[in-house]
Amino acid sequence: MVASDLIEIENVVIIGTGLMGTGIAQVAIEKGFAVTIVGRSQDKLTQSQSKIRNGLNRIAKKRFPDDAATAEEFVEGLLDNLSLVKTIAEAPIEDAQLIIEAIVENLKVKQKLLADLEPRLANNAILCSNTSSFLLEDVSDKFNSPERFAGLHFFNPVPAMKLCEVVKGGATSDVVYDSLLAFVRKLGKTPVKCGDTPGFIVNRLLIPYLLEAIHMNERGDASKEDIDTAMKLGTGHPMGPFELLDYIGLDTMKFVVDGWHQRYPDDPRFAPSETLDALVAEGKLGRKSGEGFLSHAPRG
Ligand code: 3HC
Repeated sequence: MVASDLIEIENVVIIGTGLMGTGIAQVAIEKGFAVTIVGRSQDKLTQSQSKIRNGLNRIAKKRFPDDAATAEEFVEGLLDNLSLVKTIAEAPIEDAQLIIEAIVENLKVKQKLLADLEPRLANNAILCSNTSSFLLEDVSDKFNSPERFAGLHFFNPVPAMKLCEVVKGGATSDVVYDSLLAFVRKLGKTPVKCGDTPGFIVNRLLIPYLLEAIHMNERGDASKEDIDTAMKLGTGHPMGPFELLDYIGLDTMKFVVDGWHQRYPDDPRFAPSETLDALVAEGKLGRKSGEGFLSHAPRG
């Protein structure tokens, strides 16, 4: 395929103001894409915008350490590429070449969103899901043009993590897939190609690893602190498994484990953990709630 065959992406609509939607929007406006974020309330949109501003300020301070005025101009210039809307009806879906859904991990809600978007998509538009646990095949169950549907799975924190998994659904067309690979490279991320299998590459390896760390501690084989130290110093990971579990969020972890266990009940790699379930039931969700497997000082 030659480059001219690719779909030229300029306008991006991101649905969802969570960590992922916000992070993807930050990276995309930084690279000059015109981005609209769709949120559920003005509060969520305002929070998302202020996270983006903070993230861009970090970059600006590094780039212009001795020039506050230029740094501010740089940030405000990039923020001009960002629009915020409260409803899908207000979003410029018809003008977008790429729409990324980064909403709650709820299959029915995702399916309905895709079906609602379908009649408004431009002829060349690509629709992507940032799902981390569902199969694309299931997410696109009620979507009638699966050739223009694929997965773009980013990692948290999006501005810092250099990877994006580009997931090819069973029907994703080559031109759509190659256009997404090019888009990801323009974002400054490294794309990896993967098929529509549970957890794609990273989560398929990461979730069993995190679960085994929990089971190891449940068996009394080692303390959480020693397991974390071992994996950081023994394998060079930036965070040990318990730090990472708390970073990802225990509710998210439980959601993925439960979903996979339900789908593959006999697979011991996805066996639930009583400790994880109990922490979630107590509202100990990790960093975001101040406590999870570890306790976290309030962030300033
Ligand atoms: N905007 C811009 N830049 C940012 C940023 C933001 N919001 N957040 C971080 N950064 C940049 C920093 O500026 C810094 O850049 P530099 O190296 O050029 O100075 C770099 O990222 C590292 O940030 P910090 O110095 O603040 O912090 P640390 O060095 O302590 O690293 C960390 C923090 C990047 C979170 C690191 O601990 C890490 O990599 N942890 C592992 C995270 C991980 O594994 N994520 C994947 C989770 S799994 C997932 O997301 C899949 C899902 O489906 C479950």
